[in-house]
Amino acid sequence: MFAVRGLCLLIPLVWLSLASLSLATSNISKPGCQHRCGNVTIPYPWGIDNGRDGACSLNEIYNVICNNTLNPPRPFLNHSRSNNFEVLEISIEGQHMLAKSGVAANHYENGQIVSLTPVHFRETGPLSISDSKNKLFTIGCDDYVVLGVVFASRGSTFRSGCITGCSNVSAITNGSCSGVGCCQTTIPRGLYFFTLDLGSFENHTQVGADNPYGYAFIGDPSKFEFNVGDLSDPHFVTKTIDSVPVVLEWYIWDAKNCEIAKGNKSTYACQDNSHCNDYVLFSGGYTCTCLPGYQEIDECASDIILCSHNCRNTLSGHYECYCPNGYYGDGWKCKD
Ligand SMILES: *[C@@H]1O[C@H](CO)[C@@H](O)[C@H](O)[C@H]1NC(C)=O
Ligand SMILES: *[C@@H]1O[C@H](CO)[C@@H](O)[C@H](O)[C@H]1NC(C)=O
Ligand SMILES: *[C@@H]1O[C@H](CO)[C@@H](O)[C@H](O)[C@H]1NC(C)=O
Ligand SMILES: *[C@@H]1O[C@H](CO)[C@@H](O)[C@H](O)[C@H]1NC(C)=O
Ligand SMILES: *[C@@H]1O[C@H](CO)[C@@H](O)[C@H](O)[C@H]1NC(C)=O
Ligand SMILES: *[C@@H]1O[C@H](CO)[C@@H](O)[C@H](O)[C@H]1NC(C)=O
Ligand SMILES: *[C@@H]1O[C@H](CO)[C@@H](O)[C@H](O)[C@H]1NC(C)=O
Ligand SMILES: *[C@@H]1O[C@H](CO)[C@@H](O)[C@H](O)[C@H]1NC(C)=O
Repeated sequence: MFAVRGLCLLIPLVWLSLASLSLATSNISKPGCQHRCGNVTIPYPWGIDNGRDGACSLNEIYNVICNNTLNPPRPFLNHSRSNNFEVLEISIEGQHMLAKSGVAANHYENGQIVSLTPVHFRETGPLSISDSKNKLFTIGCDDYVVLGVVFASRGSTFRSGCITGCSNVSAITNGSCSGVGCCQTTIPRGLYFFTLDLGSFENHTQVGADNPYGYAFIGDPSKFEFNVGDLSDPHFVTKTIDSVPVVLEWYIWDAKNCEIAKGNKSTYACQDNSHCNDYVLFSGGYTCTCLPGYQEIDECASDIILCSHNCRNTLSGHYECYCPNGYYGDGWKCKD
């Protein structure tokens, strides 16, 4: 069952009467809207918009396209400010989004570049790459990546990178990404528009068949474990896209800051027991965080639940028991 928060909601006040109804059935999307795309729950202010013109989201920028021709269906962000990328999870708590990352790849043969695939990431919606939850990686024995930031926070542009070299693949330790075969480094705060371009010093002439590829990506380091086999794995790109997500931060964009947002009760998203934070990186916006003590999301999932049959979370942050159809009782003890 999808976790529902008790208090600490991210739902405009005008829905609360409706929301209490849908919350009881694990639903935090806008009432009347599809709340899941395949396995992914899409909470408001995000909304699934297959030609509905933003009716299910805060506005067009928060539209998620659910591709129903895939099995299971999968959600994508593809609005005017984003290049198409796949969403793996949207969380209200912490306002994070997991998405499929892009992996840059170069292939070398006999001192020549056989193929060259850079990454171009562009998302100028209310999202940026989390600097605390991602790292920039380069994999290879004769490789460097240039992270070219077209626009970072406050309009600056810059470059940084990560270099890795090794003369003998047999010297590499599995699981250790410290510069030999694998380089990792921190990224700056506020990335949303960047390129990853790979280069090589000697076109892999000194490492040959042991390492015909160079790879680079930005992703969650807790999901990636470097292995010597990566240096010669032609399937590294698909493997990594499938297993190492990139973590994005999202924020609410319809008001410049908390003070202005609070002025419109019908759209203000941070409810009781949540705190509003100004999002200062770009042109403004805000995020909501639960106050201490209200982070408990899914009461029903805790170990001490006493319901004999069904359990649901309540708006007051607790849980209640109820009986399935055809049973009676107070929910704590149902009889048929
Ligand atoms: C969530 O809401 C949608 C639309 O109102 C509805 O179709 C769906 O059944 C609800 N899901 C649950 C688990 O109640
Ligand atoms: C996704 O949904 C399919 C069925 O639609 C299910 O078989 C699969 O186990 C689910 N995957 C995850 C990761 O939940
Ligand atoms: C859905 O995915 C298929 C297969 O990748 C693709 O051909 C199609 O264009 C996608 N449709 C939409 C609406 O994104
Ligand atoms: C993404 O949006 C662009 C422009 O609106 C459109 O041309 C393209 O087909 C969309 N791609 C997918 C996969 O929906
Ligand atoms: C690497 O290969 C490219 C073409 O594949 C060539 O232009 C370049 O000079 C080579 N660099 C070195 C250092 O051999
Ligand atoms: C790499 O190291 C192995 C074992 O240490 C050694 O047998 C081999 O000759 C070395 N290869 C090169 C090219 O130095
Ligand atoms: C590293 O892992 C690969 C594949 O899992 C394995 O074949 C290799 O023996 C390991 N190398 C070392 C030094 O443990
Ligand atoms: C509050 O926001 C709604 C929806 O955007 C808008 O229609 C309304 O005029 C706003 N009210 C105020 C007082 O700004």
